[in-house]
Amino acid sequence: MQESCASGMDHDLRDLAELERLILQQISESSTIDELEGVRIRYLGRKGEISALLKHIGNLAPEQRPVFGAAVNALRDKVTQMIAARKAELDREALEQSLARDTIDVSLPGEVFELGGLHPLTKALREITSILSSMGFTVYESREAETDDMNFVKLNVPKGHPARDMQETFYLTGTTLLRTHTSPGQIRGMLALEGKLPVRFIVPGRVYRRDQTDASHHPVFFQVEGLAIDADVTFKQLRGVISALMNRFFGQDVKIRLRPSYFPFTEPSCEVDISCVFCKGEGCSVCGNSGYLEVAGAGMVHPQVLINGGYDPEEVSGFAFGFGLDRLAMLKYGIDDIRLLYGNDKRFLSQFRGL
Ligand code: PHE
Repeated sequence: MQESCASGMDHDLRDLAELERLILQQISESSTIDELEGVRIRYLGRKGEISALLKHIGNLAPEQRPVFGAAVNALRDKVTQMIAARKAELDREALEQSLARDTIDVSLPGEVFELGGLHPLTKALREITSILSSMGFTVYESREAETDDMNFVKLNVPKGHPARDMQETFYLTGTTLLRTHTSPGQIRGMLALEGKLPVRFIVPGRVYRRDQTDASHHPVFFQVEGLAIDADVTFKQLRGVISALMNRFFGQDVKIRLRPSYFPFTEPSCEVDISCVFCKGEGCSVCGNSGYLEVAGAGMVHPQVLINGGYDPEEVSGFAFGFGLDRLAMLKYGIDDIRLLYGNDKRFLSQFRGL
């Protein structure tokens, strides 16, 4: 067709009818917008066949022009129209397909978002923090990677001291380790206060010991350290703070028993026992029939520790305590194995969601 059009003057109306049939067939067979656009360009484009025919009109003998011209123009109009119609059809098909494909089934159940909750240790710590902050204690967050000097030496535990044996631990380098207790936070907190009074803060956080692991021991656990220093802080105040804390934390009358003990950084020192929160002191399996549970170590801050923290033992005195947070949380929530606190088992954790 292209050939005969370009080369000759011999187009007759029969050729046009044949061309129209061919074009219309191509239009109706176009199954995509792109294909259809190809047809349009092939016939109606600037170099298209119908455009060539239109140009060709001028070359015809004058008497041939009106009839042939009218026929070519009619062909162009018809093809234009049919292309538009087919395009509308293809557009509608595409829309219908996309509607069918992209429908949202609103009756499908939605994604279930599991509700999280606070970890029992976090809950217990928040409560303890809130009780102690009502007594004027602020929170000092010390570091977990500690120097041997802060963790031991500044707390009266020089190299070779037997108290180190009880805290066989994780050294990071020759002089740094994962802290074995929160007590180095006493020194850092004091130094941060630069001698200001009163000193009244707690140091909560993880501590690390290369202990055995069983129902009541874990290489990582939590402590809550407390330190109060002022002109005349007394042992009686220490007892009062611990008693108030335990009563409020457990929401019941808890008896406090202080047993003489030894810590290198307090003098005098004691272990803090509370009457068993399960049997109220009667004796049960949790307290080993003793009626009491050990929950903390405490004492009056050793004069040398005050000096190491930048305070003068001639002018001030202080008390310190260190609670085992895990123990407190276990007693409060009835958890019988410390490893549950570190297992990340959702079946366990989900039980504390609403508490
Ligand atoms: N740091 C001691 C321990 O880990 C506890 C303690 C803290 C004792 C503060 C006395 C004063 O066992």
